[in-house]
Amino acid sequence: MIVEGVARRSIWLGRDGRSVEIIDQTRLPHEFVVRTLVDLDQAAEAISAMWVRGAPLIGVTAAYGVALQMNADASDASLAHAVDTLAATRPTAVNLRWALEEMKSTLAGVASTDRSSAAYRHAGKLAEDDVETCRKIGEHGVTLIEAIAERRGDGGPIQILTHCNAGWLATVDWGTALSAIYRAHDSGIPVHVWVDETRPRNQGASLTAWELGQHGVPHTVIADNAGGHLMQHGRVDLCITGSDRTTATGDVCNKIGTYLKALAAHDNGVPFYAALPHSTIDWDLSDGVAQIPIEERDGAELRRFSGPTREGHIVEISVLPDSTPVANPAFDVTPARLVTGLITERGVCEASRQGLLGLYPERGGETTQSCESSEA
Ligand code: MRU
Repeated sequence: MIVEGVARRSIWLGRDGRSVEIIDQTRLPHEFVVRTLVDLDQAAEAISAMWVRGAPLIGVTAAYGVALQMNADASDASLAHAVDTLAATRPTAVNLRWALEEMKSTLAGVASTDRSSAAYRHAGKLAEDDVETCRKIGEHGVTLIEAIAERRGDGGPIQILTHCNAGWLATVDWGTALSAIYRAHDSGIPVHVWVDETRPRNQGASLTAWELGQHGVPHTVIADNAGGHLMQHGRVDLCITGSDRTTATGDVCNKIGTYLKALAAHDNGVPFYAALPHSTIDWDLSDGVAQIPIEERDGAELRRFSGPTREGHIVEISVLPDSTPVANPAFDVTPARLVTGLITERGVCEASRQGLLGLYPERGGETTQSCESSEA
């Protein structure tokens, strides 16, 4: 990803080869601020305070958090402490747990004298793998956009609606949903993106619009409630979102509001796809609504808005008195029946167990008790 002419990733090692640098996403789009993480607690804070966010990036940041801790103390107790601390930061995106399992199993058999370098090496590998995985998701996703362009044949922009931020800021590079869009744009297919603002934290308005703008992709921010209206009037050709956790049966958990977009898409015959890497699939789950833990976030996110004054000072304003009760679930689940397909690094498949196993046949033997009983 290029930002003002500079090639960037969302996370990288500092010059000392030990500290970890990230973009503080809570400051975008108003300020581009790089933060340096030097220990486990800072890595955990980066995830829980959402300086970094997005399922794949949370996973890679956690992996580097383990490496930071191994650099300070490479004992077994310290490894267990790092894994527990990082696992407690956010509950919904399964990539976090996946990355921590990866680190734990890689480091378990390594002598403590070699653990620090092994941890950095493996965290670096997870980061590189994420870039390649997301690049491939774009390669497969663009075929859907090409097919619509061909079918329409009028040379007009393909209208794509997306929710939250599933771009390079949510991964190490490229993104998932946006990877396909960047690829279409770069290959000369005209696209225009409807960007849901994504209340309450506004990842669409603050992050997706910013990164599409940096890449030169035409886009328009809409209020979250506008998508259904646009679909009814034939102004959306395709919806593509990301996912924080996808069950083995194809249910898609993503940022709150995704489900309502899928319902509107279904009612209007608009194809609805979720783009996700293998690390987002939770092979242990078969019923997303019943089984996926949904993060409940602080009501302050609904009560307050922040942004710059005309003079450029960032200020916070209240839109509700503190005494008004609020509820703030951060994710919802779109049942597989509303999902036209899943775009993965291995190809596009139906949102179903059969569809996923077609792409990941090696998972065929891993059905759990709950999966089997739900299908009985
Ligand atoms: O709360 P966030 O900003 O971490 O939520 C992120 C999303 O819901 C994304 O759509 C999802 O992680 C997919 S990222 C490629």
